Amino acid sequence: MTQINDGEDPDEGERWPSCSASAPSIVLRMLDMLNPLPSHRVLEIGTGTGWNAGLLAHRLGGDQVITMEVDPALSMQAAVNVMNVRLDPHVVCGDGSAGYAPGAPYDRIISTCSVRSVPPAWLAQTQPGGMILTPWETPWFCYGLLRLEMTRERNAWGRFHPHSSFMLMRDQRTDLRIYRDVVRDEHVPRESETRLSPWAVTGDDWAAQFALGLQLRDVWRTWHESPGVEGVASRLWLATTDGASWAAVDWDGHTDERFMVWEHGPRGLWSEVEAAYDWWSHVGSPGPERFGMSVTPDGRHTAWLDSLGHPVPVLG
Ligand SMILES: C[S@@+](CC[C@H](N)C(=O)[O-])C[C@H]1O[C@@H](n2cnc3c(N)ncnc32)[C@H](O)[C@@H]1O
Repeated sequence: MTQINDGEDPDEGERWPSCSASAPSIVLRMLDMLNPLPSHRVLEIGTGTGWNAGLLAHRLGGDQVITMEVDPALSMQAAVNVMNVRLDPHVVCGDGSAGYAPGAPYDRIISTCSVRSVPPAWLAQTQPGGMILTPWETPWFCYGLLRLEMTRERNAWGRFHPHSSFMLMRDQRTDLRIYRDVVRDEHVPRESETRLSPWAVTGDDWAAQFALGLQLRDVWRTWHESPGVEGVASRLWLATTDGASWAAVDWDGHTDERFMVWEHGPRGLWSEVEAAYDWWSHVGSPGPERFGMSVTPDGRHTAWLDSLGHPVPVLG
């Protein structure tokens, strides 16, 4: 970890990582997947320490590598770091979601912060035949990498690859708390029962969680153990990222057959989870490696299973 709280002094408050030097294993795996050729121009988003940009500059030459960092202090330190080892990638301080038009077009764009949607500027600035490689996550589940190829029509498409966990791009972050931002005393939720275990969609089954995240693109969840409610041992909270709909699923500490469900807001979030889980089971419970994503120049994302002709339904 090389920075906390975006460089602000947390004082007595919460501490959370805002920059880290990524593990060498994932850095090398991503560079391998990126496969930069000697003539290629590469844009990196997320300079951090400058190490990845330094490796790229060592391979390609500094004049073919541009790296963008949103945080001015980190950007300045990275420029010093690479200079100290006599490497000279072009270090730019700015918001990488806009790409860097003065250096475009690129053969490769590599992001070392994760995204929930691929910024359209990256498509506009990548050559046909070029590649965009980025860590990908949904509010539901953080899984791995998305490697997209650019077509002549300037669409991008490609598959998901295991595994990674990166800081989210700054402008795609959400900081939501159930009691602070979502649930209000005056809310009167709808009550029902479910047979689907909340652990089936939040537990060890990564494939289920990944498939749910692709279908419920704006839903996040958090567990609350011993919530202080009579007869409830554990409660799973779900909410939309705009906070307008929420659901809670309660385990009474005894039976794994039935769970109480509470839903509030225009969307029935637990019903959507059940529908998403049913779809995934119905198509044979595929793992993440069978899924891919297409992105159009105007930013429309379509996830698919096995091929572009088999789109994943999006709920909500
Ligand atoms: C995991 S670190 C990158 C590690 C880095 N590649 C290295 O070699 O040390 C993620 C970086 O992405 C940066 N970042 C987050 N949002 C960004 C944005 N919109 N534009 C550019 N950089 C961003 C963070 O400030 C952080 O430094």
